[in-house]
Amino acid sequence: MKQDLIVILDLGSTENTVLAREIRALGVYSEIHPHDITMEELSAFKNVKGVILNGGENRIVDGQAVEIRQELYEFGCPMISIDYPQSKCKTTFSTLPTQEELRQFVFEECRAEANWNMKNFIEDQVELIRRQVGDRKVLLALSGGVDSSVVAAMLIKAIGKQLTCVHVNHGLMRKNESENVVTVFQDELHANLIYVDASERFLGKLENVADPEQKRKIIGGEFIRVFEEEARKLEGIDFLGQGTIYPDIIESGTKTAKMVKSHHNVGGLPEDLKFELVEPLKQLFKDEVRACGVELGLPHDMVYRQPFPGPGLGVRCLGAITRDRLEAVRESDAMLRDEFAKAGLDKKVWQYFTVVPDFKSVGMKHGARVFEYMVIIRAINTIDAMTATIEKVDWDVLETITNRILAEVKNVNRVCYDMSPKPPATIEFE
Ligand code: XMP
Repeated sequence: MKQDLIVILDLGSTENTVLAREIRALGVYSEIHPHDITMEELSAFKNVKGVILNGGENRIVDGQAVEIRQELYEFGCPMISIDYPQSKCKTTFSTLPTQEELRQFVFEECRAEANWNMKNFIEDQVELIRRQVGDRKVLLALSGGVDSSVVAAMLIKAIGKQLTCVHVNHGLMRKNESENVVTVFQDELHANLIYVDASERFLGKLENVADPEQKRKIIGGEFIRVFEEEARKLEGIDFLGQGTIYPDIIESGTKTAKMVKSHHNVGGLPEDLKFELVEPLKQLFKDEVRACGVELGLPHDMVYRQPFPGPGLGVRCLGAITRDRLEAVRESDAMLRDEFAKAGLDKKVWQYFTVVPDFKSVGMKHGARVFEYMVIIRAINTIDAMTATIEKVDWDVLETITNRILAEVKNVNRVCYDMSPKPPATIEFE
């Protein structure tokens, strides 16, 4: 391994992530591990330069205060503690250490090197993947989202044709999105790519289904079935690649933290399809995943893609999906993205998209009455998607987009801008 490591032991802190990120910001790799890690497990990381015992408000679990194994004090590298009254460390802190104190610990006491960078990370992961997989085969569901794309690029670098990617086009992708996946991964990176156009199958299952939860269930369930069918056609696959990232693991709950949400990336695969997981991004935060993608040579648009829900345009074509409205969402979304990029808003706004409701309003085109759909534009900013504010888009930009949608998108005679923050509205409409 190329990188020095500072280990954070979680003794009930709510700030483990903040601390890990601060150390990584110093250029030194840091990982969070549970308080009851054994001496053998800790020793297995060959390059540990320092340990931080990170206590906090969740240190009492089921009425009992959690402790580290006492033998860890003999581990033999510098150790400090934070908010941990029982600590036997010489240096203890009662809030996070300041940046200067942290820098002193990491560089002066631990003598760690600032060698955490994407080039080294990729080299390490490539070596680990080759060691784990050997000459066997890996399967990956490649949605074209940031995480699965970066995993794919990493696996192609490590094991080339031993990887098979399956891209399921559920017919609810944005304009040109599936085509881009094929261009980048099949034509440019020469991946073993199975492209499944399941659009008709999905749209058939979704016909006349108006309930949002039912739509989501159908799309998720059908996705698993299509992927499973493809997996069964292949022989000799032992591993499943997954785009698990660090927040997925942390949010699934450590031993001391309460579970925030369960993590299922490819949930629901049948029991008899048994795969070992390959998860090369599981120690990266989202911005690091993007940096990794850039270093692996993926196109900027793919790596800096805004969040896009798994059910795709299906939850933006409101109510029961019809082909004319789905086309109106897809076309207006492409125009919105195009105009936002021209105005420089693509780098500023967190998420922006269009929605087409399932009702019509009266209008007038070429001097005649029409009865057509409306497009709603939504553009929001947020840090964690739990709350959101609207972007105050320049009036002229909105007017340009509106005129373009009205001129070029079929069956649309009206454009609205959604002014609602979250809460009470959610970011998506369904
Ligand atoms: P809401 O609508 O709940 O959305 O305010 C919060 C964020 O989550 C995205 N979103 C999804 N992402 N699968 C996903 O991967 C989904 O089913 C899904 N639904 C919502 C949404 O786009 C927003 O960024």
